[in-house]
Amino acid sequence: MNSATQPLVSLRIDGRPVQAPPGAFVLDVARGMGIDIPTLCHHPDLESVGACRLCVVEVTHPEWKGWSGLMTACLYPVKDGIEVYTRSDKVLAARRGILSLLLARCPNSDIIRSLAEQAGARIDGLTTDPNADNCILCGLCTRICETYATGAITTVSRGAVKRVSSFANQPPEECIGCGACVIVCPTGEIQGQRTPTDYQVWERSFPTAICTVNTAACIGCGSCEEACPFSVARVALRAGGDQMAVIPEEHCRGCGVCVGACPTGAITQRGLESNVVGQPKPTIPSVFACARSNLTSSESAHLFEMPCVGRISTPLLLHAMASGAPGVLVLGRHQSTCRLNGSEDSAQARVRAARDALDLLGLDPRRIQFEEPAPGPDGPRASVARFQSMLASLEKPESLSLPPLEHEGLDTSLALINKMSRSAVETDGGARFLEKHGLPTPSLHGPVLLAGCIPILHTLGKELFAPLSLVDALRQALDVLEHLGIIGTGIRIGAPKSAFALEKCGDVTLLDDVLRGRGRDLPRPAQGMKVAFDGTEANRILIEALGYEPVDIGSDPLPDHFSLTAQDRKRAVGTLAEAERAGAHALLVANPRALARWAMMTRAGSWRSHRVQPILGVQLAYHAVHGLSLAPTHPNRVSSPCMQVAP
Ligand code: SF4
Ligand code: SF4
Ligand code: SF4
Ligand code: FES
Repeated sequence: MNSATQPLVSLRIDGRPVQAPPGAFVLDVARGMGIDIPTLCHHPDLESVGACRLCVVEVTHPEWKGWSGLMTACLYPVKDGIEVYTRSDKVLAARRGILSLLLARCPNSDIIRSLAEQAGARIDGLTTDPNADNCILCGLCTRICETYATGAITTVSRGAVKRVSSFANQPPEECIGCGACVIVCPTGEIQGQRTPTDYQVWERSFPTAICTVNTAACIGCGSCEEACPFSVARVALRAGGDQMAVIPEEHCRGCGVCVGACPTGAITQRGLESNVVGQPKPTIPSVFACARSNLTSSESAHLFEMPCVGRISTPLLLHAMASGAPGVLVLGRHQSTCRLNGSEDSAQARVRAARDALDLLGLDPRRIQFEEPAPGPDGPRASVARFQSMLASLEKPESLSLPPLEHEGLDTSLALINKMSRSAVETDGGARFLEKHGLPTPSLHGPVLLAGCIPILHTLGKELFAPLSLVDALRQALDVLEHLGIIGTGIRIGAPKSAFALEKCGDVTLLDDVLRGRGRDLPRPAQGMKVAFDGTEANRILIEALGYEPVDIGSDPLPDHFSLTAQDRKRAVGTLAEAERAGAHALLVANPRALARWAMMTRAGSWRSHRVQPILGVQLAYHAVHGLSLAPTHPNRVSSPCMQVAP
């Protein structure tokens, strides 16, 4: 029987009954009950060693004939029938004694002073050194370094002069600058210093790969601001209405999370400006790992080291796959032992996006994985070995002849997906996408709506377009078709003949054409509303057919790609301002790609100075059908028309 199937142990803590799995420690059970027991040398990710004794509790049992003993809660396993007291007179006296000794050893430590004060501990009669350091010899730093890093530090000497240091008291060569020892040290004795260019610990210096924004390529979308785990990247509104990302060098931690978040490739990292990872090798898996992972490239895995795997981007993952790597493994670090903690959430989100993209292509999504290796220096190697053996059971994908990746951004991802789709095997990836989003598949002879670029744009960039949901545009299109009497339409991912579509794709009927012809059959908009458009006759007819008033403001200023620039942003803002001056509430755009581009410019994370909503023809129809207003409530708090639901 393992502990999960063994009967629970019953005990009482401070008079309260509780049950716990056998083998659990009293400290964890008490904390689970909300009972506070002070600790100094305990860390949830390390085995307890009972060095500080501060977690002392009194334990007794009805069969012990009144005997009770003081135990360290972090090391004492639960036993049936025991009674534990965390604040008895005996416990408080023992805790006071322990803290008196700790205070005598470290009279300058704030945390020890505070704990001693709470416990009423004093150093009367004990010898103390007013110049003493703050180390209580709890051993957390050496244990965390040994378990999760390189064992660069150790305790040296004995007795009163025992202390934590490196070999021969020199800056430890093995130190990788992870900062885990700094994070866990309970007294702040170990300090890591960030300077504008590096991180310093144990008299070693580790350069920071500082991020810089190329202002010409920044569209102020705010994606980097949302992604930065340290709230360093910010989008600032400048004089003249420009908005631009700012990353102050002195605060940048060099995790690179913002680089992977930027849709236009506007951010670079010092030392990694171009060819960020070199060229993946066809036939062997690519492994993206933190530079502190204790790994090397081998015949069977190609290693790409990064300052932090938060730097990974969807284009990097897809590029490795498209280059013929049978799989890509992203190896993080243990969350609470890295000074760049928090950056890995972004890496995991990008891995998920790349996996979903593989799924759409019909490739096995397990080919791209994120893993946090097991503790110990061999953890990363074991993760790689496991990944390799999983890949061995899958068929090798085709490799494309690709140049090194020079630019990262949404366009690169889309181009890679496009290239891969030509060689991808046919599977039911599309069906899984539809099922996941609750979208209907076509019946045998029923009407079909082509999803076009929506699934892949949604997969690769849904946060970029928020609050717009491109998938909702598909739902709205189905709803409008129903109002036109076209019942039972299913969505198709792919390009068959004879279908409806939101954009031109082979032999299809454009929904906009249907609306031009039959828009008058639909209910009229509740209020008269003006809709800006590009001046083409076809769009004027469409807007009028749906019962809105067209306002010609000239052609769409945005190019047909996502590598937009600060200049593009200026033009877009100018167009929206002109539409607003003309009294329009919406701007008709040509297709879902154009809608996504405009959504990037007007997304929730960027500043807004206008009320005009970019919108598709079919969404206009949806608004009319359901009597929804096009007017947002507040310029900075607008919800996308796509997010509004029918009343
Ligand atoms: S330096 Fe900090 S973590 Fe290391 S033994 Fe001393 S008190 Fe504990
Ligand atoms: S920074 Fe990391 S590698 Fe260096 S001594 Fe501390 S825990 Fe060990
Ligand atoms: S384009 Fe967006 S993500 Fe890139 S730097 Fe500018 S604000 Fe940040
Ligand atoms: S926390 Fe239990 S002995 Fe230190």
